[in-house]
Amino acid sequence: MDTDKVKSKKYMSDIHLEDYTQQYEEKKADVSTMVFDGGRKTQSLNGQWHYAIDQYDTCLRQKWFLEKYFDEKGYSLPVDYSFDEWPVMQLPACWNTVEKEYLLYEGSMVFTRKFSYRKENEEEEIVLKIGAANYLCRVFVNGEYVGMHRGGSTSAYFNITKELKADNRIILVVDSTRRPEQVPTENTDWFNYGGIYRDIELIRLPKTYIKDLRIALVPDGTFSRIRAEIKLSEAVTSTALISVEELGIHEQISVKNGTGEATIEAKPQLWSPEVPKLYEVIVSCLNDHVSDRVGFREIKVENREIILNGKPVFLRGVSCHEESVENGKGLTDEERTENIRTAKELGCNFMRIAHYPHSERMAKLADELGMLLWEEIPVYWAIRFEREATYEDAENQLKELIGRDYNRASVIIWSVGNENADTDDRLQFMSRLADCAHQEDKTRLVSAACLVDGEKNVIADRLAEYLDVIGINEYCGWYTPDFEKLPQLMNNSNPSKPVIITEFGADALPGHHGTITDKGTEECQAYVYERQIEEIRKISYIKGMTPWILYDFRCPRRTSSIQKYYNRKGLCSADKKYRKQAFSVLQKFYREKAD
Ligand code: GCU
Repeated sequence: MDTDKVKSKKYMSDIHLEDYTQQYEEKKADVSTMVFDGGRKTQSLNGQWHYAIDQYDTCLRQKWFLEKYFDEKGYSLPVDYSFDEWPVMQLPACWNTVEKEYLLYEGSMVFTRKFSYRKENEEEEIVLKIGAANYLCRVFVNGEYVGMHRGGSTSAYFNITKELKADNRIILVVDSTRRPEQVPTENTDWFNYGGIYRDIELIRLPKTYIKDLRIALVPDGTFSRIRAEIKLSEAVTSTALISVEELGIHEQISVKNGTGEATIEAKPQLWSPEVPKLYEVIVSCLNDHVSDRVGFREIKVENREIILNGKPVFLRGVSCHEESVENGKGLTDEERTENIRTAKELGCNFMRIAHYPHSERMAKLADELGMLLWEEIPVYWAIRFEREATYEDAENQLKELIGRDYNRASVIIWSVGNENADTDDRLQFMSRLADCAHQEDKTRLVSAACLVDGEKNVIADRLAEYLDVIGINEYCGWYTPDFEKLPQLMNNSNPSKPVIITEFGADALPGHHGTITDKGTEECQAYVYERQIEEIRKISYIKGMTPWILYDFRCPRRTSSIQKYYNRKGLCSADKKYRKQAFSVLQKFYREKAD
């Protein structure tokens, strides 16, 4: 390095350090740092956080978190921040919805607050859980770098026991920048909300605690055996106790080197969308006690049938983004419940919650209210399939999602992606993900929303071989205007597995009317639904559909006078108050299907 650089490095090292993010790559929060958090004691950190927009990432470059107000000789130093004089934002929130001028802001924001903590016992461990932060989140506690999480839709867990004091300062630096190597990339068909938009809390744990608890009906067609797997935070040998009072279960599970499992005879009332029966499960081990409300059901594929609890089922579905006009991606339980109820009003027993993991609250509400779910990771469009680090990011998001929702009866399908061109790199990447999902979870189906082979007009995606159910996005009557392509597609194809039409649809501005050929009118959208349903109902290998989409959603790629930065393929308006004509077209078909 030449002398000038050395000199400048000496005096202005932080400012000139170009690969400043390298130092924040270690201590990753990922699937390995997750903690089972059902029924635990927590301390919420939701509420008023001070914040600043940090467009140049100066907090990370200049290490504001060190709060260096004086030099070695005690002289005061000028600083470019005043944490507790910054404005405040009520978290969780998507910053885009908080202030008008933040709507289109993408980049870093720095959030900070103080909080006090009282140890409950000498051995207590404390894990910080960040429900979701989009996309990168770096964490600092009392001036110490605690770690980082990559991924915009799954929770991050950090053990901060060592850094905690009685009075604490926490700093979270969230970077919502879209990047080609991320999952998803910089190009999607939805709005890139930034912020910490799900709950932030401290989880109180004993020294050795239950790190993972997976419970499900053994899918052997007898509906009479429950399998429980437990993992502790330490590789110790002990005995756990699992109780399901209502089933008369009080079973010991022998734990060796930190893991244990048991298969228990039981005859639970089976969970279904019509009868969403849940059981209180309590598990204790050493000084730890956790609980969960679990439904027991079996989902499998037999030839071209999807079998729920031993009976063939047609998945009367609809797709759904995680968005509300008021809160962006940071939905409230009331808004999620409204989405499920609206889908039920449509006649649905199934929802494709796309294109990324929605809140864990969604699957819990679906368990309670009775709605089958397709959950998906955002391996969307042109991912950097050749890049191993990108694969690791995608696989981690998949494992975090499965680890989070394994006990959710409503979730029946893990989707490893959406609309990806059938290249060799993509096949390698996504077949690995499909194999990973099958490894992680033997009780569910694995799918993906695949593309049609446009040239031959046939279902022929090479990824189908690795899937249990084939998802197909086809837009006959819209992007493929010639409706005749649909019956040709269906008759050209001869899949050996069940197919779900995971997307069809058309844009319609609520209240905009015209003829069935006037694109953007409700009449045109309704006609597309009528023609699609007319063809789909004839095809025996189609066992479900999730038309695109339940309600209009914000989308930067959509600028026409009909769209005005919204994707208008919703069956309802963005605020869900208005139902377009196509809503009742689909509703009529689903009512007929349900009988
Ligand atoms: C694609 C994609 C969706 C998108 C939709 C559309 O199929 O999967 O994310 O919003 O088409 O074009 O409206």
